[in-house]
Amino acid sequence: MDLGLADRTVVVTGGSSGVGLATVRALLDEGAKVATCGRDADRLAKATASFDPDRLYAATCDVRDAESVKRFIDGATNRFGPAVDGLVNNAGQSRMKPLDDTTAEDWRDELELKFAGVLHPLTAARTALRASGSASIVNVNAVLAKQPETRLITTSAARAGILNLSKSLSAELAGDGIRVNSVCLGLVDTGQWTRRHAAADSGLSYEDWQAELAADRGIALGRLGRAEEVAYAIVTLLSPRASYITGTSIDVCGGVGRGIL
Ligand SMILES: NC(=O)c1ccc[n+]([C@@H]2O[C@H](COP(=O)([O-])OP(=O)(O)OC[C@H]3O[C@@H](n4cnc5c(N)ncnc54)[C@H](OP(=O)(O)O)[C@@H]3O)[C@@H](O)[C@H]2O)c1
Repeated sequence: MDLGLADRTVVVTGGSSGVGLATVRALLDEGAKVATCGRDADRLAKATASFDPDRLYAATCDVRDAESVKRFIDGATNRFGPAVDGLVNNAGQSRMKPLDDTTAEDWRDELELKFAGVLHPLTAARTALRASGSASIVNVNAVLAKQPETRLITTSAARAGILNLSKSLSAELAGDGIRVNSVCLGLVDTGQWTRRHAAADSGLSYEDWQAELAADRGIALGRLGRAEEVAYAIVTLLSPRASYITGTSIDVCGGVGRGIL
């Protein structure tokens, strides 16, 4: 099926690694024009070096900084035209800390990252999204939003807030022809987990460590997800073929989610 994404402009934050990079690749494969960002210029340049420069705009940007996001979005619209047809709010990471190790600064930083990661790109791209007439926003979230874990207490709370915000935005922006949905990830094999494997210093190979992790967390499919498996869900929600889907979330989690909603 043709997803109807050819020549549409999509902004993906955090495209230099993991889910963001897989989403950029999937969108380019569909013929879309893609703008992406990350904080580390070298990492971004290396990750995107093999992509068609005619259809890719990559720039450094920190989603916590409204001015930096505005510059990035302005750069994208200068390059590809005034309309933005899709926005994937993906940039970020989680904070693995239980309550007693969590400082006031941790709470502030985590809430700021998660909310700024959605609100700054939305604010900067709002006019361009409206100009599309049929835009789609996908917020990359986590099953933690519905199923909190005490070892990730700040991230769980922030994720729940973002899921709530996504619902409000879907109602608020519908009149502008903008759909808003979320994908809720379980454990996906990306830079986040390679960094945790290195930090754990368990003596296990990455594969054995992952297998233990999957068993410990009760992942029904028995393995971590792959970034491209998340990208497929994101691209589906971005597609104009999903024109009647808004205000909802798709769990991409291999069955680790226990909820039925
Ligand atoms: N992997 C999982 O198991 C999992 C589970 C649930 C939710 N998620 C969420 O899924 C999203 C993607 O995660 P991932 O696993 O693909 O992570 P990743 O491989 O670490 O990639 C994160 C990307 O975001 C960028 N980034 C991070 N902070 C940023 C900031 N403040 N401003 C701009 N760019 C920023 C990174 O580049 P720079 O570092 O150069 O900025 C990188 O391109 C994140 O929001 C994460 O929390 C992941």
